[in-house]
Amino acid sequence: MDEIQAKQTIERLRAEIAKHERLYRIENAPVISDDEFDSLMRRLRALEAEYPQLSRSDSPSSKIGSDLSEGFATVRHISPMLSLDNVFNLSELEDFDERLRKVLGMESSTLEYCVEPKIDGAGISAVYENGNLVRLLTRGNGEEGDDITANAFAIKNLPLRLKGVRFPKLLEIRGEAYMTRAEFERLKGIARLDAMRKALIKKNKKLERDSLLSGFSNGPEDSLGEDELRDIERNLPANPRNLAAGTLKLLDKSVLEARSLMAIFYSLGAVEGFDIKEQSELPRALEAWGLPAVNWFAMARGTEEAFEKISELEAIRNDFPYNTDGAVLKLNDCSLHAAAGLTSHAPRWAVAWKYRAQRAETVLDSITLQVGRTGVVTPVAELEPIYGLSGTTVSRATLHNAGYIAEKDIRVGDTVVVEKAGEIIPAVLGVVLSKRPESSVPFEFPKTCPKCGADLKKFGEKMLFRCPNMACPPQVRGRIEHFADRDCMDIRGLGKSVVDKLVENLGVKDPSDIYFLTKEKLLTLDKFKEKSAENLLAAIEKSKKAELWRLIFGLGILEIGEQFAKELARKFSNLDELMNADMETIKQIDGMGAKSKDSPAVRALSIKAFFDDPHNRAIIEKLRGAGLNFSSSNETSGKLSGKIFVFTGTLKSMGRSEAKVLVERLGGKTAGSVSSKTDFLVSDGAFEGEKFSKAKELGIKIIGEKEFLEMVEDGNSKYTPSENVKGEGQMFLF
Ligand code: IVH
Repeated sequence: MDEIQAKQTIERLRAEIAKHERLYRIENAPVISDDEFDSLMRRLRALEAEYPQLSRSDSPSSKIGSDLSEGFATVRHISPMLSLDNVFNLSELEDFDERLRKVLGMESSTLEYCVEPKIDGAGISAVYENGNLVRLLTRGNGEEGDDITANAFAIKNLPLRLKGVRFPKLLEIRGEAYMTRAEFERLKGIARLDAMRKALIKKNKKLERDSLLSGFSNGPEDSLGEDELRDIERNLPANPRNLAAGTLKLLDKSVLEARSLMAIFYSLGAVEGFDIKEQSELPRALEAWGLPAVNWFAMARGTEEAFEKISELEAIRNDFPYNTDGAVLKLNDCSLHAAAGLTSHAPRWAVAWKYRAQRAETVLDSITLQVGRTGVVTPVAELEPIYGLSGTTVSRATLHNAGYIAEKDIRVGDTVVVEKAGEIIPAVLGVVLSKRPESSVPFEFPKTCPKCGADLKKFGEKMLFRCPNMACPPQVRGRIEHFADRDCMDIRGLGKSVVDKLVENLGVKDPSDIYFLTKEKLLTLDKFKEKSAENLLAAIEKSKKAELWRLIFGLGILEIGEQFAKELARKFSNLDELMNADMETIKQIDGMGAKSKDSPAVRALSIKAFFDDPHNRAIIEKLRGAGLNFSSSNETSGKLSGKIFVFTGTLKSMGRSEAKVLVERLGGKTAGSVSSKTDFLVSDGAFEGEKFSKAKELGIKIIGEKEFLEMVEDGNSKYTPSENVKGEGQMFLF
């Protein structure tokens, strides 16, 4: 791989990881397993290590993800909430231990670790002042969290006041809010019944309407079909972790009251008037104050013993009422923590051991097909439910594509091995041939689309099938959902269920139709009130001004991802230029085609095909008519265009991510280290570290915070620090 290829891969991985981070942390709806996520992250880290010149401080590899969401005040943590590095096997654990001994100058010693469960919940930080709970925050981005104090009552074992008298004056305490598996199953049961009741009412209403039209009636139905039940099952909450995270952020108190959460605390943030010498003292101290602590921990000298304890924990972890996704090892001697220090996002004195995926056998009841927004058909295994696999009930698993089914000769009725790695999208690994029923026959992939009946088209080596019918309902819905997605036109309130309603009831067929919705029309929809209709229309209106790359990405042109859409928006000054560009011009765009000889043609062809299609042209003209921004001028002519900023030390008025947004909004970039390409080093002057001396050596302009703020102020968007930003300085973690 050469540097250009590495750069492209790194950018793709960063975008992909950022997306999955968001799905996991903010939307609480991850679509890939933890294992898959970890492997993306590992690829990114490996590439960044190989090409250090391509490293950036804002890369997801050195960032803590963020759960910050709208509707909550953002509050700075007193001390940042860190993440943990992961290890997956003994040799990685040994590497961690060796690194730590080296940093501490204790190569020949055996370190003592405290091993505890890694609770699979949502990170929280509680602040007690003089024994009173004054604030409860989510982890947020690690520097700032969402203020969820008003929801604290939902955590049943969280004391509002500490017990006894010997508590610290200030206690910032970190832990995890979780939902017990039992509570999760209870809520899921209620949600299922509720959804079934609603679906039945809807079905009978439709039957009634149809019978009125046809004059022929079969009477009402009292049960739902297999497909309908399956749909309901698919929309139920995925797992206790996501439901716990979602519950913490509920705005509707009546819904919150019907749920119960629990918490476990395991590490200290800022503390005044209390100190521990050893990590193992913490659980007892917390319990004395009435705070819930880990219910299990073990001491281990060296990695071998640690491994034994980890295995012990793994054997009993399913007996805990909460889910665990690993073990956490913490250096027991707290006096060494400061010396061990931090990496960009995690302490060097602690590490998370992640458990591998869990596997189980079950029977494959049937194979159904899912149609995505691009028409790609994915086969899904409908399984006899497996209870408690990686903490959840598994009744569906991906079968990837027709090639996979054929290669493994997976048949309906087979006993299959299913793997679930932490969360979401379990996969069928293969068949237990000894248990194959005699009557079984090889699976024949359907020739027609199960949703619209069109003949499926085969493409690619992996035997992928695509439904070619642009009007196929799941494709129509998928394209609109994609267009409105946060990563595209970012139309808040236009999620899956609203899109379903618009398509079903208001005849919306493509993204351009949403710009012609009216309040009157929206008010005819179930659950739409004045306020929600107005909010949606305002969000749609706002999207008309979205940057051009968002529109290009949102159009859903095959092969064109977010990164490339940005590249196109940089190269063409407006959408018409792109639409009318010839293949050669498109092919030449930076980065296109570095991957393989034919990839430039693939992407250029795809763009060409998209814009040559009269149906797509009509949509674009309708979007133009609606007044959408087709121009990229404001993206290229930012006043900091092309300028690269590096930060060091402390900024008083904002966090690193805020500073980055400001720079990028004006066309500039930020980087993690100083190089000859750097234009400005922003420094507080108090911290003359490595970056400072390097910048001096290279003659790079060093500016202070005041100067920086002046630079990022512009006529339209003068920066005003958010209300919650305290006078407290905030250290950048590099
Ligand atoms: S210690 C500075 N202990 O896992 C120490 N974290 O993947 C930082 N977690 O951010 C955390 N159980 O939200 C610690 N027993 C435990 C934990 C734990 C779960 C979470 C925590 C952390 C994340 C890292």
